[in-house]
Amino acid sequence: MDKVRLNFANCMQEKVGKQGIKKEELEEFSPLIREAHQNIQKKKQNDVLGFMQLPYQKSEAEQIKSFAHKNKIKFDNLVVIGIGGSALGNIALQTALNHPFYNLLSTQGRKGSPRIFVLDNVDPIFTSGLLDVLDLEKTLFNIVSKSGNTAEGLANFFILKQALQDKIGDKCGQHILVTTDKEKGFLREKEVKEAFSSFIIPRNVGGRFSVLSPVGLVSAAFSGIDIELLLSGAELMDNVCNEPEIWKNPAYMYAAIQFLMYKKGKKINVMMPYAHNLKDIADWFRQLWAESLGKKFNNNGEIVNVGPTPVKALGVTDQHSQMQLYMEGPFDKIITFLSVSKFGLQMEIPGFYNHYLKGHTLQELLKSEEKATSLALTQNNRPNVSLVLPQINEHTIGQLIYLLEMATVCMGELFGIDALNQPGVELGKELTYALMGRAGYEEKKKELEQKEIAADNDLYII
Ligand code: PA5
Repeated sequence: MDKVRLNFANCMQEKVGKQGIKKEELEEFSPLIREAHQNIQKKKQNDVLGFMQLPYQKSEAEQIKSFAHKNKIKFDNLVVIGIGGSALGNIALQTALNHPFYNLLSTQGRKGSPRIFVLDNVDPIFTSGLLDVLDLEKTLFNIVSKSGNTAEGLANFFILKQALQDKIGDKCGQHILVTTDKEKGFLREKEVKEAFSSFIIPRNVGGRFSVLSPVGLVSAAFSGIDIELLLSGAELMDNVCNEPEIWKNPAYMYAAIQFLMYKKGKKINVMMPYAHNLKDIADWFRQLWAESLGKKFNNNGEIVNVGPTPVKALGVTDQHSQMQLYMEGPFDKIITFLSVSKFGLQMEIPGFYNHYLKGHTLQELLKSEEKATSLALTQNNRPNVSLVLPQINEHTIGQLIYLLEMATVCMGELFGIDALNQPGVELGKELTYALMGRAGYEEKKKELEQKEIAADNDLYII
C-alpha cells in the first residue's frame, strides 16, 4: 500500500533562506526527539495513550460493521449528536471519503446507506432546521459523548428525543444509539437502559484523539466507508511512527519542524489541503492542535503560555482569500499543504474560443495551482511543507489521521506540556453551569451576580 509522506524541502534554509531551518538544527534536535519517543513509549505502556491501540481494535470494528450492516436499511437518516472531539472526526471522515454531495444523492446513489447529519452546535435555528428536514420515523440518533455529561450534546439530545417521543411514542428507544464511556456519566447511567444499543469509548482515549474509535467509526460504517481499511492505514502509520530516528519518522519530523518554526516566531500553522474532500480534515486537525497544545504551565515559579495557532485554509479557493496575507504578511506562519498525487477522476475542460485551458483537465489546473503556490511561497521565503497522499482512500486517510495524532503528542513532549488535557475550557463550562442553574453551582452564580461580572456595562455599549 502506498504511504503518506512528508516533503519538507521548502522549509529548509537552502530554499527559504534565514526563515528556514538548517539541516544541522534537525541533526541537533535528534536527541530531543529520541527522548520524546521514550516518554511516548512510557505513556503508551502506562495505558495513557489509548488512541495508539485503536488501529488494532479489529473485533470492535467488526462489531460496528455488522451492526451498521444490519441496521442501516431501517433508516434514511443517521444524526450524530456531539461536540468537539465527539463530532469533528465524524465530519472529517464523511467529507474525506464520501461523495461531496452525499446527502443529496438518491438512496440508490448512497447504496442504501442513510444520510449523515452531525449536530454540533446549540443554535436553535440549526437544531430546529434539522428537525424540519428529518422524517423521525426513519431516523436513528447516535448521541456521542465521552463524559456522557456535556451540556450541548445533552440539550440537543433531549430536544430530539422529545420530538421522537411525540412522534412514535414507546418505540423511541429503537431510534437511539448511545456512544459513551463504559461505566461513567449521565448517558451511561440513564439513557443506555432505554436505547436499543450502545458503543463504548475506551476510557484512555481522549475526545480529540477518538476518531478511530466508535466515535467516528459508527457513522463511517453506516455510510459505507471501509472502516477496517481505515484502521489498517492507521496501523501502517503506527509502525512507521514507532521509530525514534527523526529522519525516518514523518510524525516526529513534522513535530520537530513545527517546534523549531514556533521558536523562530512562526507560531501559526496553516493547514491548506489541495483537495476539496480534505477540508474538514483541516478542521478536525485545528481542534487536535489547538486543544492539545495551547497550554500554560509553571516553570520554576514563572507562568509560561505556549501553543501554536492552527488555521485552516483550502486550495485553490483560499488563494483568492488568504494567499495575499501568506505571501506578503508577517513572517509568522508555516504552511502545511495536504497534497494528493492522484485524483480518481479526470475532467477535461472543453475547448471554447481557442482558450489556453482547452484540452487541460481540472486536476491539472488544481495541481498546477498547488505547485505554483508552493513555488511562489518558497520564492518569497515562506516556509511550507507538504503531507502527500498518493490518493484519497480509507487507507491513506487512516495513515494521515494517525500521523497527525502522533505529531501532536510529540509536540506536547517538546513543549513539556500535557497534550491530553484541556483545563482551559473548564472555567467557561463552570460559568455556564452557574448561569444555567445547575445544582452545586449556586455559590458561583451568587458570586457572578454580586460582582456583576455577568452584567453588561452600558458605558461600553454604543
Ligand atoms: O477533545 C476533547 O476532549 C473535547 O473536545 C471533547 O471531545 C468535547 O468537549 C466533548 O466532550 P464529550 O465527548 O465528553 O461530550
